[in-house]
Amino acid sequence: MKIILMGGPGAGKGTQASPLVEKFGFPHISTGDMFRAAIKNGTELGLKAKSFMDAGGLVPDEVTIGIVAERLAQPDCTDGFLLDGFPRTLAQGTALSEILDRLGMKLDGVINIEVDEAVLIPRLTGRRVCRKCGASYHMIFNKPEKEGVCGQCAGELYQRSDDNVETAQNRLNVYNQQTQPLIDFYQKQGLIKRINGDQPIDLVFADILKALV
Ligand code: AP5
Ligand code: ZN
Repeated sequence: MKIILMGGPGAGKGTQASPLVEKFGFPHISTGDMFRAAIKNGTELGLKAKSFMDAGGLVPDEVTIGIVAERLAQPDCTDGFLLDGFPRTLAQGTALSEILDRLGMKLDGVINIEVDEAVLIPRLTGRRVCRKCGASYHMIFNKPEKEGVCGQCAGELYQRSDDNVETAQNRLNVYNQQTQPLIDFYQKQGLIKRINGDQPIDLVFADILKALV
């Protein structure tokens, strides 16, 4: 299955990606995770991405499209993939269509996790992420059993540097201006599957599964 997960910052894309990947076994391609790994490893890509991410803006299209094109051409993507956080601009959406055409691939669906804006900021500021396995928790809505410790791998939990109120608000503004138009783009292709993301995590997952069959 070849799927895109869309939704505003904090809508629950990463949270839903984990059980989806476990169930379907396809690779999880998150541009945000790729950029964070590059920053951690001090690579050239990381250096290019850092200032944009710290400000809550978007990394330039040519950089982002290049890394996704390279990733989708890997053999483990032949049978399916889950794109999370890409595309995010109309230019990225158009480029993705061209990349998939070249590879002889077709999208099966675009899951759009819908959540009211007012819910998103507290979700972001309360998020904690595992340093070791990347699992996502929330101080109120999805607490780890032991404070500061990942329930899956016992790794240390930390707060992402772009999860402060100011940067989170910028990310939301950028989403409204640059990413929302993509919903129309995929709606016209008959690919959008709307999911209510403002319900408990397991119910959101159940709705996604229903939308995919
Ligand atoms: P990225 O990492 O993609 O961030 P994002 O899109 O802002 O998404 P998030 O990871 O913040 O949210 P999410 O939807 O995954 O939410 P989560 O599941 O964790 O991008 C970061 C930056 O990288 C961008 O700002 C940009 O600079 C750059 N970038 C990335 N891709 C790019 C691209 N294509 N082009 C250009 N630049 C790019 O959930 C959030 C919290 O809510 C968690 O605490 C979770 O536990 C909780 N939660 C989840 N679901 C529920 C629920 N149902 N009920 C209650 N709480 C919930
Ligand atoms: Zn972990």
